[in-house]
Amino acid sequence: MSKIIKVKARQVFDSRGNPTIEAEVFTKNNSALAICPSGASTGTYEAFEKRDKNNKRYLGKSVLNAVNLINTKISKKLKGQNVHDQERIDTLLINLDGTRQKTRLGANSILAVSMAVKKLSARVKKLPLFKTFLVKNNFKLPYPLMNIINGGAHANNGLRIQEFMIRPDRAKNFSDAMRICYVVIKNLSKIIKNRGLSTSVGDEGGFAPMISSNNQALDLIVSAIKKSGFVNGRDVSICLDVAANELKKPILIEEFTELIKKYPIRSIEDPFKEDDWDSWKKLTKNTKIQIVGDDLFVTNTKRLAKGIKDNVANSILVKLNQIGTLSETLETIEMAHRAGYTCVISHRSGAPEDTILADIAVAVHSGQIKTGSLSRSDRLAKYNQLVRIEELLGQTAEYAGRSI
Ligand code: PGA
Ligand code: ZN
Repeated sequence: MSKIIKVKARQVFDSRGNPTIEAEVFTKNNSALAICPSGASTGTYEAFEKRDKNNKRYLGKSVLNAVNLINTKISKKLKGQNVHDQERIDTLLINLDGTRQKTRLGANSILAVSMAVKKLSARVKKLPLFKTFLVKNNFKLPYPLMNIINGGAHANNGLRIQEFMIRPDRAKNFSDAMRICYVVIKNLSKIIKNRGLSTSVGDEGGFAPMISSNNQALDLIVSAIKKSGFVNGRDVSICLDVAANELKKPILIEEFTELIKKYPIRSIEDPFKEDDWDSWKKLTKNTKIQIVGDDLFVTNTKRLAKGIKDNVANSILVKLNQIGTLSETLETIEMAHRAGYTCVISHRSGAPEDTILADIAVAVHSGQIKTGSLSRSDRLAKYNQLVRIEELLGQTAEYAGRSI
């Protein structure tokens, strides 16, 4: 047993420059760090993110009170605990908070600590992080869902759909998937430039050209896939995150059906608002493609269980800070897999350099990961970690293949 001797937190900054929490957990001879991410299009049912609303020095965005809670209450509670007993530690954190949405300590404080404990456990065991989850006997590299055009709350163009992604469905392995995405993104850049549009990027690293029509964005991507020598819908498909909570005027089921008919779209996330269960159910029934619940399920077993019972969606987006601890996240993934739902492990638009997502995706066989485009180091950090894991696994590295 390796005992935790203290937890120390500090305020650092995420990829948007906003304050966020870094937690550092110590045993006698080791320590490990983890940083919490932060969303822009957050769901109502997500766990609470604690910020110092009254601190005008950081425009109400600082996390100094949460940092203080870690340095005092949380550190005291975890002192003496076995660093390898993740479930017990997460339960202690949940109980110390004691509220339904983690409003007392904040899910950002709790998650930073929960992740740092896991990393420290791996360090003490001298194992790569992904090998310490013990969820499956083998490891599987996920498909990347690369967000190559940004809109909605992640850019200031007129695009209503938040994320336009590509998925390299015919890639032989993870490295091949990266190469395919690379070629499509470089060709997309040329096409955007040739149209006289800007190739500057949005919060998740995808291009954010000043266009306002969803079809125009989809046409650009279709052209880039073709120009790269790949077959649309066979080699590379398109995935969307509508983030419908943010829409002033909803997109109708018929409009989605048209889009799916016209374009090689194989996955749609949050097509409707978080409480519109009926529309979700109808679209799930009327299509064969992947329908992903993000703000709908908020990585929460209660909401996911309702979805499973009512045949709503067939996939879940997994974001650790929507629920607040690693153990709860793993429980949600397990519930989804048992019900035959696919899982997409996801970053947030405000991301740290932390790469734990990559390890989780490999350990739980998520099959899919979305962590932005091939730009912005906060996004590349996760992809590069997957490249390293693939190399480390060598011949034994399995790939999600065409199993989605
Ligand atoms: P967020 O967006 O991190 O800004 O909430 C990501 C998503 O909606 O998937
Ligand atoms: Zn989303």
